[in-house]
Amino acid sequence: MRDLAPSAKDVQNSQGLVRVLQGQALSPPPIWLMRQAGRYLPEYRAVREKAGSFLDLCYTPALAAEVTLQPVRRFGFDAAILFSDILVVPDALGQRVAFVEGEGPLLDPVSCACHLVRLDRGGTAAKFAPVFDTVARVRQDLPRETALIGFCGAPWTVATYMVAGKGSADQAEARLWAYRDRTGFGSLIDILTEASIAYLDGQVRAGADVLQIFDSWAGSLPEAEFDAWVVAPTKRIVTELKARHPRVPIIGFPRGAGTNASRYVSATGVEGIGCDTAMPLEAMRALADRGVAVQGNLDPLLLVAGGSGLKARVGEMLKAMAGVPFIFNLGHGIVPQTPPENVAHLVALVRGKGG
Ligand code: CP3
Repeated sequence: MRDLAPSAKDVQNSQGLVRVLQGQALSPPPIWLMRQAGRYLPEYRAVREKAGSFLDLCYTPALAAEVTLQPVRRFGFDAAILFSDILVVPDALGQRVAFVEGEGPLLDPVSCACHLVRLDRGGTAAKFAPVFDTVARVRQDLPRETALIGFCGAPWTVATYMVAGKGSADQAEARLWAYRDRTGFGSLIDILTEASIAYLDGQVRAGADVLQIFDSWAGSLPEAEFDAWVVAPTKRIVTELKARHPRVPIIGFPRGAGTNASRYVSATGVEGIGCDTAMPLEAMRALADRGVAVQGNLDPLLLVAGGSGLKARVGEMLKAMAGVPFIFNLGHGIVPQTPPENVAHLVALVRGKGG
């Protein structure tokens, strides 16, 4: 007898985001925005105040699920992205991580091979558990056709914060460690690669439909280091996740990679490539011609400015990407000063309903 329950495949096929990542061109394209849950939304700020610290919010499933769902409710995005942070992984490894108002993240630096013993690889499962619980709650409350994106930071980008103990403009501390002690730095990357695999695997088991790997600082490395610290660990993560969950597509976001993006695509095996604001539309089309879905890349500040400039650029992007598998997004995360009404306007423009 035929099983009338929808198969996992049917469920996935109802999600535009997944179809595009399987190689289909959709018109209008699916849209979601990096950092779509955040301080530009008054309803986020209200929950954030209630939660205590930022990490408390990440580790409290009811609240994290609520802020994950807020932008989908308000704007009808085609995907939700799990509310968490890339620095949950170092926190789970036992590094002290704090988010200081107005200063960004602060960590106790792990800056030489002698500090690696401080990292507790065995402790991650317990720390990740509430994040997986958030994923399960969100998946249950989301409309079936809305994809749920799980994510992690790529090992290189997470390492830059771990080594410097904060965000840095040039990632000098991590780059220097990598040049001076390739083996020691490689051990840190291996620890992060393994923890990231466990983190993503748990998110998929809990219900994530798609994964994104954020490599925000991929652009600061020369090609040999790009291959060693960006491509190789990402390939390991993708290969392992594909072995465990062959139907879950993965988007890589090697921000600033420029012409290295095409090597990244062929070497890592990602189904989608996130393109930053500086990537020309014709270069995005060229990537799509290599058989990968492209995502991006509206300037987040044009979304703040809004108006006729926004409308013109959205039109240009849609025209340039017509006929190729394309996911509308920003070139980097949404910024706190973004007027929510501009986001609503953007969604309408992309769906051909905007004035
Ligand atoms: O996209 C989403 O809506 C999901 C949640 C998400 C957050 N951070 C929430 C967050 C995601 C996917 C991230 C990724 C992240 N976090 C990256 C990669 C993407 C990028 O932006 O390059 C990086 C580098 C981080 C590290 C991080 N987290 C920094 C540097 C900061 C401080 C800067 C800032 O905007 O304050 C954070 C904090 C953070 N992560 C906030 C949010 C909503 C703001 C903190 C708050 O609400 O007080």
